[in-house]
Amino acid sequence: MNRIICDEYEDLSRSAADIVADQIGKKPDSVLGLATGSTPIGLYEELVRRCDAGKIDFSKARSFNLDEYYPIMKNNPQSYNYFMHEHLFSKVSFSSARILDGETDDPLGECAKYDEEIKAAGGIDLQLLGIGVNGHIGFNEPAESYSMPTYHVKLSGSTISANSRFFTDGEKPPTSALTMGFGAIFGSKSILLLISGASKAQIAKKLFEGKIHTGIPACLLLLHPNVTVILDRAAAAEL
Ligand code: GLP
Repeated sequence: MNRIICDEYEDLSRSAADIVADQIGKKPDSVLGLATGSTPIGLYEELVRRCDAGKIDFSKARSFNLDEYYPIMKNNPQSYNYFMHEHLFSKVSFSSARILDGETDDPLGECAKYDEEIKAAGGIDLQLLGIGVNGHIGFNEPAESYSMPTYHVKLSGSTISANSRFFTDGEKPPTSALTMGFGAIFGSKSILLLISGASKAQIAKKLFEGKIHTGIPACLLLLHPNVTVILDRAAAAEL
């Protein structure tokens, strides 16, 4: 894995934007795998700035998001649909932007269709990832075995409590989600993993031990030939 350590979160975001810009520069109709969570927000802000300045153009690019809560209404401010619209898609225009449907009454059918659509698009060129404090990737939670196809997953207690900070007014966070499995993630030609903040220092340390810990989904990324990890100083503190 290539490792880039930046001083501050802002530097991490700019460095990540350079990699996305490079990908789009080389292949304007790239298929991007996009992620949610607080970590990529700075990257999305930087991409919007560069778009506004005419330095990058996503109009030919297609995107697939990693995951979505299930069930959840698209207009729920905590849905990843809402998040992506707010941070990127309302400001930057993509040729197509696909997100798993948290409103579907056929979650299994939706997951199968998603994998077909990714395949039909030729797979993902650059997959952006964040990481959970427990090492989850997308919503692939620590488990004894990992799913290759996109699937409907029950969330772990640790993820529900980590994400409950976003749900206010007594609204309970969903206990399940739809997520890309490792098939689409691994099928991606390149992967960009962003790790920010002191709360991620322990999991970053585990990841860079260079061992495949089966209970840590992110460790599977060690097997992918083209992964770049960008960390800020706080997340890299234990390396
Ligand atoms: C959620 C998302 C993940 C994301 C993780 C970390 O659980 N499903 O894709 O990586 O949060 O989020 P944050 O960047 O806010 O720490």
